[in-house]
Amino acid sequence: MSDKITRISGLVAGSNKIVVFTGAGVSTESGIPDFRSPGGIWSRFDPDEFTIQKFISSPETRRKQWRFLIESGLITDALPNRAHLAVSELEKMGKLRCVITQNIDNLHQKAGNEPGRVFELHGTMGWARCMDCRTRFSLDSIMQKLPEVDYLPECGECGGMLKPDVVFFGESLPERTLQAAIVHARSCDLFIVIGSSLVVYPAAYLPLYAVEAGAKLVIINNSPTPFDDQAQVVIGGSAGEAMERIIDLVKKMHGG
Ligand code: APR
Ligand code: ZN
Repeated sequence: MSDKITRISGLVAGSNKIVVFTGAGVSTESGIPDFRSPGGIWSRFDPDEFTIQKFISSPETRRKQWRFLIESGLITDALPNRAHLAVSELEKMGKLRCVITQNIDNLHQKAGNEPGRVFELHGTMGWARCMDCRTRFSLDSIMQKLPEVDYLPECGECGGMLKPDVVFFGESLPERTLQAAIVHARSCDLFIVIGSSLVVYPAAYLPLYAVEAGAKLVIINNSPTPFDDQAQVVIGGSAGEAMERIIDLVKKMHGG
């Protein structure tokens, strides 16, 4: 692994147009389960239950989905881990264009990345949004009331249905966020994937756009991905350990 750490550190040291792309695997060391590892969320819950059609179709499935989000471990007061902190360091070094994340846990922002530089392709669990008038409510403001409203929270403005501000299967991604992420993927010179199986589209197109535009691709993931053969370097190990060692070596290369 150390030769690969050295190669990635060399790429990072030589770039100031880096895009980092993260998936659930960057947050497992913060105690948040990912989706497709053994024991991951989709081994305990059926993803077909979490379509927007099901959410709208009946109060029963809405109740189930709110309970899932509360009980799945996706909403916790988890703390950023070494991998998130290393990505925040890249921004402090002036090397990071943006973070494109599939995660809804807000841990990149908690680690110190500027919110304006974090593109949340699948939304965020920090908010709930009214499906009628689009008003947003912080999740904290409605969590306590969920049991008393039997997990069917309503909009305080218009009485409409509240939905977690995350992208459900069958829903399109936030258009402006996706377009901004595509522009950055196409204009970076180093695209680093951390903790994603790269099997969900359109998010998984982004590393492709970067490679097509001539960027170098690095993948840090503890299981193989469909894009490994297009990467300059692939590290199949812990995101936290790899990212911490990379940042330490880059600092040494910069005489830090
Ligand atoms: N270090 C490195 N890699 C890790 C670690 C870790 N500590 N923990 C898990 N991984 C890897 C797993 O091996 C897996 O390949 O991270 C990857 C996580 O993949 P998924 O669970 O599929 O998560 P993700 O790629 O983010 O899924 C994309 O699918 O269900 C939807 O909306 C959901 O945003 C999610 C999307
Ligand atoms: Zn409303």
